[in-house]
Amino acid sequence: GIARHYKFDIKKQDVTHLCKTKSMITVNGKFPGPPVVAREGDQVVVEVVNHVKNNASIHWHGIRQLGSPWSDGPSYITQCPIQTGQSYVYNFTIKGQRGTLWWHAHISWLRATLYGPLIILPKKNDCYPFPKPHEEKTIMFGEWWYNDTEAVISQALQSGGGPNVSDAYTFNGFPGPLYNSCTGARGLADTYRLKVQPGKTYLLRLINAALNDDLFFSIANHTMTVVEADALYVKPFETDILLITPGQTTNVLLKTKPNPTQAKYLMAVSPYFTGSGTFDNTTAAAILEYDTPQNPTSTDTITGVTAKDLPRLPSVNDTSFVANFSNKFRSLNNAQFPVDVPQKVDKQFFFTVGLGTNPCPKNQKCQGPNNNTKFAATVNNISMALPSKAILQSYFFGQNDGIFSASFPQFPINEFNYTGTPPNNTNVVNGTTQVMVIPYNTSVEVVMQDTSVVSAESHPLHLHGYNFYVVGQGYGNFNPNKDPAKYNLVDPVERNTVAVPSGGWVAIRFRADNPGVWFMHCHFEVHISWGLRMAWVVLDGKLPNQKVPPPPADLPKC
Ligand code: C2O
Repeated sequence: GIARHYKFDIKKQDVTHLCKTKSMITVNGKFPGPPVVAREGDQVVVEVVNHVKNNASIHWHGIRQLGSPWSDGPSYITQCPIQTGQSYVYNFTIKGQRGTLWWHAHISWLRATLYGPLIILPKKNDCYPFPKPHEEKTIMFGEWWYNDTEAVISQALQSGGGPNVSDAYTFNGFPGPLYNSCTGARGLADTYRLKVQPGKTYLLRLINAALNDDLFFSIANHTMTVVEADALYVKPFETDILLITPGQTTNVLLKTKPNPTQAKYLMAVSPYFTGSGTFDNTTAAAILEYDTPQNPTSTDTITGVTAKDLPRLPSVNDTSFVANFSNKFRSLNNAQFPVDVPQKVDKQFFFTVGLGTNPCPKNQKCQGPNNNTKFAATVNNISMALPSKAILQSYFFGQNDGIFSASFPQFPINEFNYTGTPPNNTNVVNGTTQVMVIPYNTSVEVVMQDTSVVSAESHPLHLHGYNFYVVGQGYGNFNPNKDPAKYNLVDPVERNTVAVPSGGWVAIRFRADNPGVWFMHCHFEVHISWGLRMAWVVLDGKLPNQKVPPPPADLPKC
């Protein structure tokens, strides 16, 4: 491989959308930020310079960081944040991975505007396991707020209730309402357009960078073939509609019509949500635009394209679509990309994930559920507090006093009806920093059970430093006597982010072959803030390359 050098200047930039200009934090003045493109085997070196008053750090979502845990990026987990005027060089080699990933800020809610694609092409002489596409296009879904995102988070956390909903979903930064009050029918200049030619195959790299919403995606009158999820090839399958959770990526092949009857077709996203509280229930659109002689793309309004041209999307709480869709994913599992799922596990863990409440502080009014509470979110009833120094640093230097404790609680599998009437003794929340410590190369199974203590809700759980196999999932309470018999240990999909089904459970397996400290959390930003996060410490192995290397000299200090 070769070395790919990038410079990320984190700085403010005026950006105008929906008739308003806002000064936002960007990388290099771009929104979304610049794509990082490399090949499998390449070394990626990104110098990040922080010119804004907020602390910052950047995470390379889905990169395994084998031998480079100091470059993973989550603030207070693997590094202290990069302070104003300081810089840090992320330096990692892409080992055994290719596909669509992304990068984003990993502190507070800065990822609302600090994100971009991370595209790993196959090695020079390697091919895709599908016909070579005519062209590749990346579409990142996100959210747009008129307000500063730091104002949005403080409102959400201080009120104790949920966050205000965003003002629009976006496609590559372009807001997607078909119409809005500022302009009425919108000009094309503020709408994302994907230009295609008739009769060709495109590879679309789709990334959900939204803060708090699972999204359905569809293109009117077109079918897509799913070929990859989270930078891992899957057995191809066709679908009109996708569901992508925050953190996940999905690659699809799009065959364009040889003789399109329209010049423009609408693409759209809408949310999937089963919880309680407010969310953005709008359908947002962009345009698939055919470049044909009859369509010289000279018009500058969305003439002739109206809401009736929107693709059909599931209703907001269509869990049966979601269940059916997520069951379609299978690893490619061929000679070149074999499945290596642990057939036996050394350790099985049972994690409850879900929402809870904390009492409202004295002399405050809180807007959480059940009258004057604050929302919280937990793993095994721990609402994790971030420490004041990075856990990886404390661990590496053996100075963990006060920073974290190695006592992550175990939780009883069958003790409660987790998805039935909420038992109040599962509603205990405290803010400690407890980590789960496991030996190098442990074969791990984690069953994650959604709870309905506040309300059942799907949680996109993301694990840093690993991909994992999704060996089983279901609705209701996990049954340890019956459900494991139904696991798929032949061709389960492998990913880095999986939705714990709303009112259900998911079982994942991985081999802990990457020493370091690895964050695991819900990829809804508001749930992270409420504490739905934990960390694994994977101990060193014996050989030199199975150990956490010493930190780089420029590692930021707290
Ligand atoms: Cu994409 Cu810890 O996150």
